[in-house]
Formats: sequence, C-alpha cells, structure tokens
Amino acid sequence: MNILILGGGGREHALAWAFRQNPKCDRLIVAPGNAGIAAIARCAALEITDGAAVVGFCEEQAIDLVVIGPEAPLASGVADSLRAAGIAVFGPSREAARLEASKAFTKEICDACGAPTAGWARFTDAAAARAHVAARGAPIVVKADGLAGGKGVTVAMTEAEALTAIDAAFGGAFGDAGTELVIEEFMAGEEASFFVLCDGATCLPIGSAQDHKRVGEGDTGPNTGGMGAYSPAPVLTEALQARVMAEIVKPTIAEMARRGTPFQGVLYAGLMIEDGRARLVEYNVRFGDPECQVLMMRLGAQALDLVHACAEGRLAEMTVNWADDHALTVVLAAEGYPGDTRKGGVIGGLDGLPETATQMLFHAGTATQEGRVVANGGRVLNATGRGATLAEAQARAYALADAVDWPEGFYRRDIGWRAL
Ligand code: AMP
Ligand code: GLY
Repeated sequence: MNILILGGGGREHALAWAFRQNPKCDRLIVAPGNAGIAAIARCAALEITDGAAVVGFCEEQAIDLVVIGPEAPLASGVADSLRAAGIAVFGPSREAARLEASKAFTKEICDACGAPTAGWARFTDAAAARAHVAARGAPIVVKADGLAGGKGVTVAMTEAEALTAIDAAFGGAFGDAGTELVIEEFMAGEEASFFVLCDGATCLPIGSAQDHKRVGEGDTGPNTGGMGAYSPAPVLTEALQARVMAEIVKPTIAEMARRGTPFQGVLYAGLMIEDGRARLVEYNVRFGDPECQVLMMRLGAQALDLVHACAEGRLAEMTVNWADDHALTVVLAAEGYPGDTRKGGVIGGLDGLPETATQMLFHAGTATQEGRVVANGGRVLNATGRGATLAEAQARAYALADAVDWPEGFYRRDIGWRAL
C-alpha cells in the first residue's frame, strides 16, 4: 500500500514510524515532513490545504491511502476532495470537522444528543456578552467560536478577565474566529483525553492520554500546544471509558450520522472529570500533538491496520491488541516558546540514539541545513519512552532528552508528575 501523510510535526513522525513497522506499508510519503521523517519516508512539498493539489499528487504517485494529521486541511475540506476522487482517506469531511472548527456547533450537537458538557450561551455582540458575565459572575470561560490556534479560550477567574477577553475578541484579536463567542460555565476537575476511531457508524477506542499544557514546571506559565503527554490516563478507568462511550462519543457519532454528515477519522474528546463523572470540554477531529506520539508508541504496527480499516468503513471487523504498557513523551522546545523563537540553531547528539520500540526521539519542528539538523519551529523534538510502568517510560524518555545537545532548547523535568 502506498501512503501519504499530510503534516510535518511530531504527530506525523510518530504515525510514519508506526506505519513503517507494518509490512503492508510500501511507499510512504509525508508532506511536508521534517528532518526526522526524512530518514524513514520521502518528504514532499505540497500545498496540503489545497484539495485539488492533494488529489493531483495522489493520482501521480498512485497513493492508496491518505492520512491527514493537522486540522487545517480538514477544515478546508481536503478529505472531501479525496473521497470525491475515490481515494481512501483517514480524516473527517469539512462538515464533520466543524466539531473542532466551531465551538458553538459542538455545543449544539451535545445539546441535541444529550452529551454532558458545561452550560453555554453564544454571543455576536459585546454588550450582550458583557451583561451575561455580569449576571453569571466568575469563574467563567470565554471562547472564540472558531479556530484560533489554541489561543481563543480564556478561563477567567475574575469578571474583569472575562470582560477583557470579550473586548479582545470583538476587537478583532482572533480575526474571523472571534466574531462569535461561546461563554461557558466553568468546570472544575481533572482533564484527560480519549481517542476513538470512527468510520461513520462504528466507534473503536484506541487509548487515553493526559498532557501538560503549561510551559513551566508545576503546570505554570502560559499555555502551549502541549509540553508533554503520557498514556494511559489513570483517571480514565475502564468503567469511566464505558460511560464516556455511552453518554458522549456514541451519541455524538449517531447525531452526526443522523444529520447526514457522518464522522470518519479520530475523534479526540477532551474531558473534565470530577467525582467519577466526565463532561465534554471540547472535541478535536484529529490526533493530538504530542498525544499521538504516546498512542503510536503503544499501538505500533497495528496503527496502520486500524487507520486503514477506519478509512474503508471496516472498523466493525477490528479489535485493538492492548498491551499493559505505558508511554510518555517530553517536548523539547526552542527558547522563547510559546512566544517567538529563533530558527536555525544546530541540534547535536542525535547520532547513535536508540530507535527502538521503547525509545524514540520524534522530530517536530526540525529541518536539515548543510547536512546538519537545525531547529525550525517552537516545539522541536519529542523524546518518547515506553515501559511496563509509567516510571519506566518516563526514565527512558528523559534519558533520550538528556542525550540531545541543543543549548537553545529547553524541556520540563516533571512530565507525568500527576500520575506518578
Ligand atoms: P478548549 O480549546 O475548548 O479545549 O479549551 C482549552 C482549555 O481551556 C481546556 O483544555 C481546559 O483546560 C480549559 N477549559 C475549556 N473549557 C473549560 C470549562 N468550561 N471549564 C474549565 N476549563 C475549561
Ligand atoms: N496537544 C493538544 C492538541 O493537539 O490539540
């Protein structure tokens, strides 16, 4: 099978690494890829949000399966173009991708199918939004409706913070994404992520994870795309997973199908867990980054069979071979992240690192310049370990991170603390 993966981060490196272990994987192309991916796949330059360009590339390269990593090509309908051209694709249609692209849409779906989530209201003008905050008080959560690169959510502990967020959004801080706001009840509890493959009808859980969103140790400082993650999430017990499937995931999938916009791909449910009950915080319609790295480390070669079956509507035939294992990944980021970072810093210490089923250094924002690997983004490397216990996985991940020689990089030393 010839496979094209769209994306070029740690998530896509982990997908490529897992697929490569499966004998069904023949040619593997990743667009745009990165320096680490280039060692196991061909990297191609391609406008990945342009459906016609992606279809043309697939026809030229005899691609049998396309796996879409990031949200941008999903939100721009690349999966629709591929399906229309008869090319198997893992990833939802533009309509189904609204589960991530519009917070108000997700809330409507939750209300329509009875999935537990925070109480909410939507606003298109500042005065009404401000009056709502005054009536409800803090803490309260203000969200730009659209995709805002992870920056559109303010968990306001005071009314003043909420009002500032409202004014920023209507003042244009998030562009079109902020012309509509969702204001939500604040939910207390512990967050966890749950990943479920869906082929439109059948849903198959493939694992849970928890991430560390804040840049600083002890979960302090500004929010990021994620500084590390581990799987499984101890808080998501088997019993709770069964309830989440019955109360949240399956009703959502059924509602999407009922509307004539079935969801195909991976549904990533962000959950808030309090007193043994889970409520939905948000959906993403793709693998998390860096959550994908720990899921792929645990699934290995079967990931390709699962994703392929999902794309072809054959999930009902599939089971997941669970190992009683743990994985943990540590993000190495460039100085300044999540703010501005410098590109081009040389990364050493990469030769001779172990690349095994229990230790993998996935590349995220890296590139090759004059034969050397250099930093090319904010989150740059993902040191990932797997083990029989979370502590063992953590030790293996940090051994890799410590071996990297990159003076301009930093990483948190406490990934996994909550579970350990
Ligand atoms: P979202 O983009 O909707 O996932 O929001 C980003 C983060 O904001 C979440 O991961 C939570 O940590 C936090 N958050 C979002 N909604 C709520 C809520 N209703 N109550 C408490 N925290 C929330
Ligand atoms: N790590 C969070 C995300 O991928 O959305």
